[in-house]
Amino acid sequence: MKPITFPKDFYWGGATSSHQVEGRNTNNDWFVFEQLYGKIADGTVSGDACDHYSRFREDFALLKSLNHNAHRFSVEWSRVEPARDYISKVEVNHYRQVAESIRENGMEPFVTLHHFTTPLWLARTGGWLNPDAIERFEKFTKVMVDALGDIVTFWMPINEPVVYTFLSFMDGSYAPGMKKPLAGFNVLTHMLVAHGRSYRIIKEKYPDAQVGFNKHMRIFDPYREDNKRDRAAAARMDRVFNMDIIDALFTGETAGRVKVPVEEKTAVRESSDFLALNYYSKDSIKFSIFHPGTLFGKTIMPEGAESSHEGAYGDKPEGEYYPHGIRRLLKILDSYGQPVYVTENGVSTNNDAYRVKYMANHIAEAGRAMEDGVDLRGYLFWSTLDNFEWNEGYLMRFGMIHVDFETQERTVQDSAKLFGDIAKKNGLDDALCKKYNAVVE
Ligand code: GAL
Repeated sequence: MKPITFPKDFYWGGATSSHQVEGRNTNNDWFVFEQLYGKIADGTVSGDACDHYSRFREDFALLKSLNHNAHRFSVEWSRVEPARDYISKVEVNHYRQVAESIRENGMEPFVTLHHFTTPLWLARTGGWLNPDAIERFEKFTKVMVDALGDIVTFWMPINEPVVYTFLSFMDGSYAPGMKKPLAGFNVLTHMLVAHGRSYRIIKEKYPDAQVGFNKHMRIFDPYREDNKRDRAAAARMDRVFNMDIIDALFTGETAGRVKVPVEEKTAVRESSDFLALNYYSKDSIKFSIFHPGTLFGKTIMPEGAESSHEGAYGDKPEGEYYPHGIRRLLKILDSYGQPVYVTENGVSTNNDAYRVKYMANHIAEAGRAMEDGVDLRGYLFWSTLDNFEWNEGYLMRFGMIHVDFETQERTVQDSAKLFGDIAKKNGLDDALCKKYNAVVE
């Protein structure tokens, strides 16, 4: 391969979220959801997770030893505000220590304020379906900006609003498990407005802060390139899943089903300093009259395609391994004229050699996007540690560091070593690929 060198000061690190790694989060809607029969595929509950709440110092020291210079985490709102309007100083202090420890270990913190979990007191009044969530989120942002703003520069207020809306309020497979296909779109509006207001709260106090919009994007390509209906179905999914919300963000105008109320236009418009891409895989879309819920498109795993979600239950297609997708999407995001960061990219597998291949090929393609001119400033892998993978429980392992959930023992796998070497070299070349037996196409 042609060696790739990343720019000076490029950020290399891993990403996590509070509920997936901390353990003992008992005051949010996911905790309740997990207890319900049949909601988690392997019958587990998040429980102690990776016990990262107690072990964050050791975990960060380990990441430092692997040459990470950035780390993404989320603040668990239900800890900081366990009851409406009661702010726990103890928990605010906990996250202060987390951010400080990240810095002490030479890493740049990237902070998310909502990563799929909502405090129970808010969930009981409808959660994000209720416009009240916007104001509540503003108040929570203010608390966290006062607590962390002097040591945190990078903020992504809300993780993946479209994924959250779809899985939590339309398809119902994520907490709170609602199936309200139409009302669900209000969640998206509320989150977009909340993002915009959060942006302004952070920037008012810290004008130099960098606040980004976090977007999970997938590649939707037609299953049969020469089939008009497959092409149209793939294009519809791309529009609704990927593009509408970005258009709404940049214009402040309603885009498709993402409604922006006129009075909220200014809150939404110009509310990002960078774009954050979470990318995993591609969907090959076949037209299907029986799938109105997914706009008459059905994901098909083409013969010979490799999965990016090994270990998922059953044989449901969860996305194809497609490294070139990251390059295509980075170019699209770059066209909005802001710096771009990859803030999640990873694969679920019990075979670390496959993770090595996935990682090397995706980083190579991200590097090529950069060589094409994309203003890429960082790459954060999902995930540092194996963790609680939402409704799939503990069987899906995304960690470059393996976790034994019985003993909490961490094992540094080859993928973590490769990542550390890439970070150290600030690049990827044949020597590194050879060392880890990674074939980069
Ligand atoms: C993302 C999500 C993460 C993690 C990941 C792997 O959409 O933000 O929390 O679950 O997918 O499936």
